Order: sequence, then C-alpha cells, then structure tokens
Amino acid sequence: YKKVTTKSLIDMKANGEKISMLTCYDYSMAKVLEAGGVDVMLVGDSASNVMAGHETTLPITLDQMIYHASSVVRGVERALVVVDLPFGTYQSDPKEALRSAIRIMKESGAHAVKLEGGHEVKDGIKRILGAGIPVMGHLGLTPQSIYKFGTYTVRAKGDEEADQLIQDAKMLEKVGCFALVLEKIPAALAKKVAESISIPVIGIGAGNGVDGQVLVVHDMIGLTHEFNPRFLRRYLNIYDQMKEAVSQYVSDVKSVDFPNEQEQY
Ligand code: KIV
Ligand code: NA
Repeated sequence: YKKVTTKSLIDMKANGEKISMLTCYDYSMAKVLEAGGVDVMLVGDSASNVMAGHETTLPITLDQMIYHASSVVRGVERALVVVDLPFGTYQSDPKEALRSAIRIMKESGAHAVKLEGGHEVKDGIKRILGAGIPVMGHLGLTPQSIYKFGTYTVRAKGDEEADQLIQDAKMLEKVGCFALVLEKIPAALAKKVAESISIPVIGIGAGNGVDGQVLVVHDMIGLTHEFNPRFLRRYLNIYDQMKEAVSQYVSDVKSVDFPNEQEQY
C-alpha cells in the first residue's frame, strides 16, 4: 500500500478518482475501515453524538477528541486521519485555533485538522496552515452552528446563502485548505462548487457531482437505527444483529448453555 496524503487526495481529484471517507472514533473500528480500504478517516466531533450520547456536537472537548484521534491513529496504516477541531477551540482567536490544532497533531499523531466555517474563521485557518498543519474546510450544514440555524434541514437553498457558500469555498481553496466538506446542500450547488475549485470536495447529503463522499460510520453500518435522513445509505443493520447476539448470550448464560465442556479449563 501507499499512504494516503493530502497531496494524493488533490491528485485523485485531478485524475477523476472519487475519495471515500468515513468517520472513525476508536482503534477497533479503524482496523476494520483500514481493511476495507477507506481513503480518509475523519475523527468527527459527531463522536459527541454517537459515542457520548449528546444531542449536539457542542459539548465534546479537545481532550476527548485527542483521545479518540490517538486511538484511531494506532489502528491506521494507509488512510489519512483528519480530526475535527471541536466547538470553542478555534473561533475566539487565531492563536487559540493554532494552539488547539498543534495539540491535536502532537498528542494524537493525526495528519490534518478540519474546522467549520468560511470567512468567519479565515484568520484561524491561515494561522494553522502557517504552522504546516493541513486544514480541511467544512461548509453548508455545519452542526456546531445548530443553534444559529435552529434546524437540521438543507442549507443554501436561497441565492444569498448559496453565493456566500461559493465565495467561502473559493476563499478556502485560495488560503490553502487541501479539501472541503459540503454537508446537506442542494446537489446542483455542490457540483458547481466542486467544478469551480481544484481542491477535492467531499460531500455528505450533497449529491454525486462532488469529488468524494463521507458518512458517519455508525449510520452507514446501521448501529444507529433511529436516524434516517434521505442521504444515508445503510450497508448493514448491525444494531439488529448485535441485539440478537446479546439476547442469545443472555439466554445461554441463564440456561447454563454457556460455557459448555469445551469452553472451560
Ligand atoms: O463530525 C462529523 O461526522 C462530520 C462529518 C459529517 C463530515 O463532520
Ligand atoms: Na464534524
């Protein structure tokens, strides 16, 4: 294998090869995703939802993100590992943004950071890039701003928000981001953005006119089973399979079927 780098992702876009990305939060899952050949693992702040059970991504801390990221890094050989800067660790001022990004890189061994927003966070992004840390942008439905939006519905349906998003995407390319996530926006807009910048655009709920796709792994394998947005394709219903296994185990323990003669010393 050859390690995936920020450079190889840009080359993939130039060559028309689509980029596969999934979220990952722990070592065991990283081993599986690596075996499956995923190009990029995103240690997303969606860990706040799927790992910790919070309603939003806001509560997760930098220390918690570093714990998840370092666990993922230990399970990775080929994939590029990108880590979300959590809410409140980069918006206040560029120096704090850089300090947070440095902690992630130093303490987890990950390869890049991702943060949400455009012009509002431009100075922070430049500062991080200036220290040699690759940055992935994230526009559209940015979950750290959920209390501003008030809803998880599709963003940038109107001209004003769409125009701002295009401007922000071009700015992110210009300052030197290596890639950009577009979340839950009209497919036509996402395609237009992907065609107007040379860095890869990775979509979630943004159609197939972009340069790659990302899903939350727990959603994609059906470990979460009460979340059913239109953009989600489930490749497994692992919740049902695990539940079945657990209830079989419980019944085997109760009936003293487990352990049997061969399963003891
Ligand atoms: O945290 C996350 O899972 C993400 C992806 C949905 C892009 O940011
Ligand atoms: Na995120």
